[in-house]
Amino acid sequence: MRTPQVAGAGADRSVTIYEVGARDGLQNEKTTVPTAIKAEFIGRLVEAGLPIIEATSFVHPTWVPQLADAADLMELLGERGKDMPVLVPNERGLERALKLGMRHVAIFGSATETFARRNLNRGLDEQFAMFEPTVRRARDAGLDVRAYVSMCFGDPWEGDVPIEQVVEVGKRLFDLGASQLSLGDTIGVGTANHVTALIAAFTEAGMGVDQLAVHFHDTYGQALANAHAALQSGITTFDASAGGLGGCPYAESATGNLATEDLVWMLHGMGIDTGVDLAKLVETSVWMAAQLGRPSPSRVVTALGAEFAT
Ligand code: HMG
Ligand code: MG
Repeated sequence: MRTPQVAGAGADRSVTIYEVGARDGLQNEKTTVPTAIKAEFIGRLVEAGLPIIEATSFVHPTWVPQLADAADLMELLGERGKDMPVLVPNERGLERALKLGMRHVAIFGSATETFARRNLNRGLDEQFAMFEPTVRRARDAGLDVRAYVSMCFGDPWEGDVPIEQVVEVGKRLFDLGASQLSLGDTIGVGTANHVTALIAAFTEAGMGVDQLAVHFHDTYGQALANAHAALQSGITTFDASAGGLGGCPYAESATGNLATEDLVWMLHGMGIDTGVDLAKLVETSVWMAAQLGRPSPSRVVTALGAEFAT
């Protein structure tokens, strides 16, 4: 299979890809993917070398019916599933995760009032009352906590979102006791200079680039350019979804995440190590596209996938 020609001086850098296809990708599918297919998808992602795979969400099952099988999925994944992060919005979700022995959870806050209400049924300030005891109990139980902040680059209902507002909410979420804050461009409207400015604002507010991750959706075709801008700013953790699956059911106009294959192609071409086997990953996304009955939106999967089509 073709690989990118390596050019540049990136060989001394490595990045971590935080794979969200099984969670962010499958939460937005019209039909619910059978649990066994999800488990096989995750198993293939492990085989392809993805170091972190967010598996599912312990949210209210009627809010996200596509992930209502979280406990069954964990049973299928067995011991290795316990090291895969899962979303928990509240103490009820945490209790479900703790019962199954999960070791990494992620809370997900909103930088805007409207999305907080639509996604969490809570106001901007009220969300902290839900997250604070959740993070405290998770940390007391020895779990690692990631925090997401959504709508960092724009909101479908409120329009532009001031950088200061994003930094204030994001830092507040992180300071609850998270080890990492993932900056979400939930609806994919961000552009490169905006990414640079937001990361700079977080570092000026005292956060290290090693504490930040970026989470781009590709609605306007900017996700890879934005990832490159974040890389230039020193970010080393990138969220991406195999085949470019994804979107948030509670965010109008949100489409798929940055495709993991497209990110890997760019990074490998820059001589930056990811530990990912691109051929196995493309094969996985071709297989998953067949399960879903539609082609992957990833450019790299489109370019390289033919040899894996059945
Ligand atoms: P609510 O209706 O306000 O819940 O929903 P509540 O606290 O009032 O509780 C009502 C009932 O739900 C109670 O049961 C609870 O026990 C139960 P009852 O006493 O009436 O029998 N309940 C639960 N059951 C199972 N699991 C739970 C749970 N919580 C309560 N965890 C809630 C509030 C937060 C639960 C709801 O709004 C919700 O589940 N939201 C999740 C939405 C979601 O998952 N969105 C997608 C993920 S975010 C995203 O994709 C963005 C991201 O990718 C980053 C980016 O792109 O920006 C991360
Ligand atoms: Mg997302």
